[in-house]
Amino acid sequence: MARTSRTSTTKAAPRAPVSPFARRRKQLMRMAGEDAIVIVPAAAERVRSRDTHFPYRQDSDLLYLTGFPEPDAVLALIPGRRHGEAILFCRERDPEREGWDGPRFGPEGAVETFGVDDAYPVTDLDDILPGLLEGRSRVYYHFGRDAEFDLKLIGWLNRVRAQVRSGAQPPHEFLELGHLLDELRLFKDAGELKLMQRAADISVAAHQAAMRAARPGVAEYQLQAELEYVFRRHGAVPAYNSIVGAGPNACVLHYNANNGTARDGDLVLIDAGAEVDGYASDITRTFPANGRFTPAQRALHDLVRDAQAAALAQARPGTHWDAIHEAAVATLSEGLLRLGLLRGKLEKIIADGSYKRFYRHKTGHWLGLDVHDVGDYRVDGQSRVLEAGMVFTIEPGLYVDADDPTVDAKWRGIGIRIEDDVLITKAAPRVLTDGLARSADEIEAFMADARG
Ligand code: GLY
Ligand code: MN
Ligand code: MN
Repeated sequence: MARTSRTSTTKAAPRAPVSPFARRRKQLMRMAGEDAIVIVPAAAERVRSRDTHFPYRQDSDLLYLTGFPEPDAVLALIPGRRHGEAILFCRERDPEREGWDGPRFGPEGAVETFGVDDAYPVTDLDDILPGLLEGRSRVYYHFGRDAEFDLKLIGWLNRVRAQVRSGAQPPHEFLELGHLLDELRLFKDAGELKLMQRAADISVAAHQAAMRAARPGVAEYQLQAELEYVFRRHGAVPAYNSIVGAGPNACVLHYNANNGTARDGDLVLIDAGAEVDGYASDITRTFPANGRFTPAQRALHDLVRDAQAAALAQARPGTHWDAIHEAAVATLSEGLLRLGLLRGKLEKIIADGSYKRFYRHKTGHWLGLDVHDVGDYRVDGQSRVLEAGMVFTIEPGLYVDADDPTVDAKWRGIGIRIEDDVLITKAAPRVLTDGLARSADEIEAFMADARG
């Protein structure tokens, strides 16, 4: 978001076309109804150690509704309010502080740049918010996400309640904001898809850089550096902690120590994705450090690849979400039997979950402003039906414990996952991350090429 000049204007600027943010606010207000108020605070800054902070990341809901990047802010949406429906509270300009921490929009800049109807200093919240709550019967808010803000909200409510005998009408229904907003966020608009495609493209380039740099003896953190160099070079940040696991480290699902070394003959599993303007991508590839799969590694990789293809074949409007996972589980279980890692009857292995010894996680999740994005997976007790505009990952894997005595030694310590980002369209699904080598043959060819 480019910052425009913050000089004050006396005349109203020509009316700009409705921004996607304004459209989303309108839509949310329509869903909330005329007697509601919606309250969305900014994410808090978090201390990393003593007086240094983690890089600031705005709350995804506030980003979705405003694009406003600063901490210490609160959005209030008050449908039908005559003096403005979208009110932002934010930090005031402060040349002294801005000299240390960088520029702030200030209330005036916030109105100009983010198109809210009005903005006030965040220090005025205590004075103004009770008046905005008064006369509204329902409050939509994320209760329990930020305990400190919860208490403030209760304080403002109590201020209104204290005025009941003077005729004040305090809200009497408190509703989970996610119930409305998650449903909106689940369906991506054209602007969001553009950002998600860009995040995917940067991630593809990052994974390619890591594959090019792979060789026996490389440290996991060196491959992480290759990935994140590409992210930063394009102005992106990691959407989550990059996972770079060589050899048996690939079997640790949320591994991110990234301090091991790839030996000759090891596979390397990389699960890493860029975030662009808040939008995540999420890719996993598993490749041999030396550029050539062993027959055992290839057999398991082919199986995971087949499971991903089977799952992708289900990614159509009208299919149930669970069908994606079920297709992956059926293919993996059948392959585990065929390769001798499991014994017994296919139906039983699936029904009793014995495949989970090698496949412990689900086959995907919604993807968007959060890497594990919002949205219900079940509706009215049923698995959700897929619809155009939904984006999710498909990420089957197999993980064989390095010390598993029940399987042939050649399988032990192999961990493989293949993860891509998929958009449901009216026709065939669009794989946002399709540009990256996926099958064992494609990976070997890419790595051979990279090595000249
Ligand atoms: N990188 C987190 C996940 O794949 O779900
Ligand atoms: Mn994922
Ligand atoms: Mn992932």
